[in-house]
Amino acid sequence: MTEKPRSEGSKIEPAVAELDEATARVELERLADILGRANTAYHSEDAPLISDGEFDRLRNRNEAIEARFPELKRVDSPSNQIGASPAPGFGKIRHTRRMLSLSNAFSDDDVIDFVQSIRRFLNIPDTDITQFTAEPKIDGLSLSLRYESGKLRYAATRGDGETGEDVTANARTITDIPHMIDNAPEVLEVRGEIYMSHQDFAALNEKQQVIGGKIFANPRNAAAGSLRQLDPEITRFRPLRFFAYAWGAISEPIANTQTDAIDRLKAFGFQTNTLFRRCATTDEMLQAYAEIFAQRATLGYDIDGVVYKLDDLALQDRLGMRSTTPRWAIAHKFPAERAWTMLEGIDIQVGRTGALSPVARLKPVTVGGVVVSNATLHNEDYIAGQDSRGQAIREGGDIRIGDWVEVYRAGDVIPKIRDVDLARRSMDAQPYLFPDSCPECDSPAIREPGDSVRRCTGGMICPAQAVERLKHFVSRAAFDIEGLGAKQVEAFWRDGWITTPHEIFTLHARFGPGHPRQLKNREGWGEKSAQNLFAAIEEKRRIPLARLIYALGFRHVGETSAATLASHYGRWEDFRSAMREAVDPDSSAYSELIAIDGVGPVMAHSLVTSFHAEIEEIDKLADLLEILPAASRSSESPVAGKTVVFTGSLERMTRAEAKARAEAMGAKVAGSVSAKTDLLIAGPGAGSKARKAAEFGIEVLDEEAWLSLIGAI
Ligand code: IVH
Repeated sequence: MTEKPRSEGSKIEPAVAELDEATARVELERLADILGRANTAYHSEDAPLISDGEFDRLRNRNEAIEARFPELKRVDSPSNQIGASPAPGFGKIRHTRRMLSLSNAFSDDDVIDFVQSIRRFLNIPDTDITQFTAEPKIDGLSLSLRYESGKLRYAATRGDGETGEDVTANARTITDIPHMIDNAPEVLEVRGEIYMSHQDFAALNEKQQVIGGKIFANPRNAAAGSLRQLDPEITRFRPLRFFAYAWGAISEPIANTQTDAIDRLKAFGFQTNTLFRRCATTDEMLQAYAEIFAQRATLGYDIDGVVYKLDDLALQDRLGMRSTTPRWAIAHKFPAERAWTMLEGIDIQVGRTGALSPVARLKPVTVGGVVVSNATLHNEDYIAGQDSRGQAIREGGDIRIGDWVEVYRAGDVIPKIRDVDLARRSMDAQPYLFPDSCPECDSPAIREPGDSVRRCTGGMICPAQAVERLKHFVSRAAFDIEGLGAKQVEAFWRDGWITTPHEIFTLHARFGPGHPRQLKNREGWGEKSAQNLFAAIEEKRRIPLARLIYALGFRHVGETSAATLASHYGRWEDFRSAMREAVDPDSSAYSELIAIDGVGPVMAHSLVTSFHAEIEEIDKLADLLEILPAASRSSESPVAGKTVVFTGSLERMTRAEAKARAEAMGAKVAGSVSAKTDLLIAGPGAGSKARKAAEFGIEVLDEEAWLSLIGAI
């Protein structure tokens, strides 16, 4: 290509032919940086940094300089980046076994409750010892490594727990990850944490500073940024490490206890944490916590808590998991980091359900290595010094603009305000007046009795609610459309290109090829990125029912409830007609809805009223989609899709375990008998439920018959 001087930012680019060696070197460095950042922004962040055209031009320029000065080619040269401009993102890998997260304990009492609830669930007598393990919770990112016949087949990030990114080539460059392991089962998925040591993190940032590259905020971000490089040669030069602490699919058991399993992983050649230990009592667990906490500062890598796991793997199996977390493990988090600073102002943000959320604007302060300038203030009662029941918090001290407040943050959560220093309050500080109208659309903002939150009544005429709903709609656990993040949604909304969810699916018909206004001509977009977005939208026309229900953003319906509703109703048509009928609280559809375990009257009310109010948009959207029915978790099981009710006392296992097992077999467990009940499992002492079942002519099994039906005995 012909080289003319051109400007990129404020720099004037000299023609390639005119470069001497020294300027060529500097120029290659600059291009590696811009293209590297553009690539990252394109693939892993929400906004493209430069247009596709500009990307291509800079890439060509880089290649032309490299052709003239081959000896100056850099290890991180953009020409090594896989694929054409910009390289496609990472491939996706569906985990054969979900990658779980952990529930949290924040106090000794939470740990005691955790142990007791396990003992109760499994009905372990107080006199029996139950062993647990304790180990540091590494603050990095989790990775799953699949070995087949001892060979590393692939490596995948956690992603949403079900599907992660294929980072195999990158993982192969990490010394702690063996390419081959001996004497392993045919299939072995090893799971653990990728992290960076403090020393390596400091050295990396120093290097980045010199080359004008990205400076990372903390070792965890540095580890994530280094693993998720499209070019594995960049990962190779980033000092990443890996601790193995768990496993996914395995073709045969590797041990009977957690402790022995970790020893096996070590024998296979993995790094395991040396602070791992076994504890026979809750006191020992808490002691392990105190000891690990005491060593935190000298470990040389970040940890953010202690993980306890039940040692006996057969018992782990019996406990099973909740929707995203195992019942047999918990993370005991270290206390939050705190700091005092000045409250400079209070902003009110309006969320997708109209909630007015006060946000503290703080004089920036470092809390545990991170600069904090905003924190949540929860709601108006919190500012006034009261909890949801009207009891005084902070001894009743209210929070005023200009006050000195104590901020804390625990892990990744939004920073919070803990306390206020009344002694430092200025004489003229005024109590904060919470607005009673929406700052975005001026509609009245009201508080329903019993609700701690004040809400804008503007509904979809409120721009904040409309745009927040769209953001929720495209979020990760909802439609998760690649290339359509919060920033793009805001921009499309502002320009009227996408104002309601269904318009996402008509975007191509309105702004695709052949139209007067085209996406590819929009600022920040190009031919390729527009095509990619259309393809990504197209891909999500097929959507599992649970995701759709969650995406619709009904108040009180989170991911777990959406999954429960989906598996109860199975098909969209059934869900839709049930919600339509259930507007009438006397209908059988309504009784069915509130009989679902996990659905209470509050959720049911919000669900059916919103469904009713928004039916027009919902139908328009559904018409544009292919909604995949919810598969029952185990469709071959004899109880899949059946509604069962337990009553009376069970002898072989606790009620909680029986319920968890039934659900794991694909049954729905309801709390009360109705015409929809398929099976009643009645132990001794069954009363009214058994009589009601007899009235409805429902099949009744005793515990033995039930266990043999599900193949448990
Ligand atoms: S066990 C089935 N052990 O914490 C449980 N997780 O908050 C699998 N993590 O996603 C996790 N150190 O990324 C386990 N020693 C440890 C851990 C650990 C860090 C991470 C992991 C997980 C997250 C959950």
